[in-house]
Amino acid sequence: MRKKIIAGNWKMNTDKKDSKNLVSEIVKNSEEKNHTYIILSPPYIYLQQAITDCMHRKDILVASQNCSSFDNGAYTGEVSAKMLKSIGVDYVIIGHSERRQYFKESNDILNDKILQALSNNLKVIFCCGEDINQREKNEFFDVINDQLSSTIFKLDSKKLSNIIVAYEPIWAIGTGKTASPEQAQEMHFYIRSLFKKNFGDNVGDNISILYGGSCKASNAKTIFSQSDIDGGLIGGASLKSADFISIINSI
Ligand code: PGA
Repeated sequence: MRKKIIAGNWKMNTDKKDSKNLVSEIVKNSEEKNHTYIILSPPYIYLQQAITDCMHRKDILVASQNCSSFDNGAYTGEVSAKMLKSIGVDYVIIGHSERRQYFKESNDILNDKILQALSNNLKVIFCCGEDINQREKNEFFDVINDQLSSTIFKLDSKKLSNIIVAYEPIWAIGTGKTASPEQAQEMHFYIRSLFKKNFGDNVGDNISILYGGSCKASNAKTIFSQSDIDGGLIGGASLKSADFISIINSI
């Protein structure tokens, strides 16, 4: 059975106290469920605290929002995959549209980051998504195929059990405009079929594909009820514990 996952991407939000409170509210108000995982992704400097506070919950994992594309050395300000692993981080989010857009992360950089993460035994949440022009011009399938072909599809199939894909249409991120359940399902089905075509049915059937983009308590249930949607990557709504818990409960 495919893993169901609700991941909260806090982006550059919260301070030390908010972050700790958010983790403790989520731990207190969520229950362990079979095949269902919660992934919390606070900013780098709160990762260690989050890991300590979730230690007793096997179903709550912690993700970094980024990692360096370099191994180690004179790269001021960077945080390596090895450092993240050494404090107990489980996942790294790679390919988020905000990193591609504001920090000019190219496919080459993303590939280096994926390799850094995997070779340090971190799992990857890999994001892909089209912008509004590409959606309106009906180019979205090609865009996603290109984004995956130049990154994740280059991996050896044995590595794919360490990958989660997040489909995040850029026009839906932080805009309040969600993809309809039909639009999301259509794309998730397509992404899964690409994995089947490239790596076989077993890989395609087992890879978890999350939806991200203005997912909130009021729309989560209908989105998650689609057959190829295995959960969500939640931004804004993961910053309020009651909203995030309600999203967790809708899976
Ligand atoms: P949003 O962000 O839920 O605030 O739209 C999702 C994301 O960027 O991962």
